[in-house]
Amino acid sequence: MSPPTSTRSSLGEALAGWPPPVLDPAGPFAQRITDLSWALFAMAVVVTGVVVVAVWAAIWGPPGLKRKLGGEKLIWAGGVAFPVVALTALLVWGLTLTARLTEAPTGEELRIRVAGEQWWWRVAYLDRQGREVIEDANEVHIPVGRPVVFEVTSNDVIHSFWVPRLMGKVDMIPGRINTLRLIADRPGSYGGQCGEYCGGAHALMGFVVVAHEPAELRRVLAARAAAARPPATELTRLGYQVFNRSGCGSCHAIEGTPANGLAGPNLTHVGARRSLGAGILPMNQGTLGGWISNVHDIKPGARMPPYGALSGEELRAVAAYLDSLK
Ligand code: CUA
Repeated sequence: MSPPTSTRSSLGEALAGWPPPVLDPAGPFAQRITDLSWALFAMAVVVTGVVVVAVWAAIWGPPGLKRKLGGEKLIWAGGVAFPVVALTALLVWGLTLTARLTEAPTGEELRIRVAGEQWWWRVAYLDRQGREVIEDANEVHIPVGRPVVFEVTSNDVIHSFWVPRLMGKVDMIPGRINTLRLIADRPGSYGGQCGEYCGGAHALMGFVVVAHEPAELRRVLAARAAAARPPATELTRLGYQVFNRSGCGSCHAIEGTPANGLAGPNLTHVGARRSLGAGILPMNQGTLGGWISNVHDIKPGARMPPYGALSGEELRAVAAYLDSLK
């Protein structure tokens, strides 16, 4: 009989999410924040330990020790001098460690503007002059090993831009642009999440940052910069018609078609995105159909109205059309 594996598998399961993203940095800036977190944590453990021992000694310790603990010297040393020195040192160290994270762009980096919306992310890639050259949503593509500058803002309430494995949180404030830089060490997808409560669907406001090798990034961005491909099958042609006659284009833009709405996410290459609904569902025709027919079942409070009145065939057709926009 083989030995029981339950202990190992349950331990394995318990550790399946370990390390959590905040303690698993994938770039030098996130590494600094992780180092700072561990240092603060270690400091807190030591101080808590000393306090627990002192309390124990003050209650149950020998009379000689109790007298020493109650002495004025210890209060000045442990209660005033130590906190002032330790906290000042930590503050200075923390500020120098994080100062580089918010440096202004030098002009060499890829610049990306991200605006928070209830409850999704408006993404624009900027050229050297700061003009928006590609519009996208809920997904950001960056190069590996090179700094990227994000200029974050908001179009409604305060949100917070946060990719735990790459960078700390930065508030997105209406009427203001905050900058942050980050570097990804390795290619891959990194999950992001709104880090500030911004209304009912706050927890459903995620996004994806994808880091590519430079040649691959050029290919991806060139594809995103192109106009949408026209519908090529009977089903997608029907979907295109349904999209237009249902008024979808008054909120969504699809470059190369009459759809030019600005209220909702740009859909020019929606089918190429990794997620639907701002990081909460995989992107495919099934999830697209469910989203369009009743978005509020998936994301309560979303600004988009449900289109439950579409027939099954129309719904399939719109989903197929959107999915074809790679
Ligand atoms: Cu946006 Cu929380």
